[in-house]
Amino acid sequence: MQEISIQLTTTPKQKPLDESKLGFGNIFTDHMFLMNYKTGEGWINPRIVPYGPIALDPAAMCLHYGQEIFEGMKAYRADDGRILLFRPEENFKRMNDSNARLCIPPVDIDFCIHALSELVKIDQEWIPHMKDTSLYIRPFVFSIDPHLGVRAANEYIFAIILSPSGSYYAEGLKPVKIYVEHKYARSVKGGTGMAKAAGNYATSLIAQEEAHAQGYSQVLWLDGAQKKYVEEVGAMNIFFKIGDEIVTPELGGSILPGITRKSVLELLRSLGYNATERLLPMQEIVDAYNNGKLDEVFGTGTAAVISPVGVLKYDDLVMNINEGNIGPVSQMLYDKLTGIQWGREEDTFGWTREIK
Ligand code: PLP
Ligand code: COI
Repeated sequence: MQEISIQLTTTPKQKPLDESKLGFGNIFTDHMFLMNYKTGEGWINPRIVPYGPIALDPAAMCLHYGQEIFEGMKAYRADDGRILLFRPEENFKRMNDSNARLCIPPVDIDFCIHALSELVKIDQEWIPHMKDTSLYIRPFVFSIDPHLGVRAANEYIFAIILSPSGSYYAEGLKPVKIYVEHKYARSVKGGTGMAKAAGNYATSLIAQEEAHAQGYSQVLWLDGAQKKYVEEVGAMNIFFKIGDEIVTPELGGSILPGITRKSVLELLRSLGYNATERLLPMQEIVDAYNNGKLDEVFGTGTAAVISPVGVLKYDDLVMNINEGNIGPVSQMLYDKLTGIQWGREEDTFGWTREIK
């Protein structure tokens, strides 16, 4: 494995004093990991350096053509002092799928997990202690050659930064309000929806802004072509409990294959639930609601964890779900998943990886 050079900061920052006020993605630790890619040389110069600005040429290709992808994962501080990652290999596998879609060269998964572990060890004092807090990990890759012709770049930076964080939503575990978007499209089949590409998020902002203005936290996207089938929410996948079925939209290339989604499906199936992935017409959700069968709706994501949905607005119909309370299945999933992630429950799936 390549040697990682390490330069420690001489001016460590003050760590957050009140962990109840962390919010999400506001504070960054003392160090970051960087490495460069050059065509013909591969990934070179892996290094851990003090956190700080990265100088870019104004013609750097990422600034013009958006060749950027990212990942999101967390390090958890267990009660017994262990530091745990949750399925990190899945994140770097998905990073390589995103890379392939955006013509970015692949990374070595084992090396990335090693680099990440070294970085987290150096900044481990930054992993918050309060319940439900963690160290959010953001690996990302962007193109840097100074060039204005449209083509795949020849030079990239891979970076990892760390951010001690609390809940993604200000609501915490309280149900969020979601607006079903039927004007704008986030992605279509054959597009980049399955990749964690920066551009997907840029195109979604206008819908999110309009939803915010009406008091909703995020939007639920429908398929881009017909606006008929449910896809996913801005920063999470979505599940519905309709009678005995717990259903989430199938992966068709236009939605992100969430690692929490996959874990929730595996958890539910291991517990004997009828958890399905299929094409899900929005009209079926409306019918289930009108027939009193829409018991629970929840989102899943690294940042969002299990996020109950209390209100779903579709056109003029405002669906109030489970009287604005978290439902029993959502609560059970939250307890089981966070139990495994924070090392409170036995990890029978082998999902966690200790950083030593
Ligand atoms: N969908 C989108 C658009 C996301 O940004 C995320 C967050 O990463 C998810 C789904 C959930 O994915 P994961 O569970 O891997 O965090
Ligand atoms: C995550 O859950 O890790 C995400 O990347 C969501 C994000 C866009 C905040």
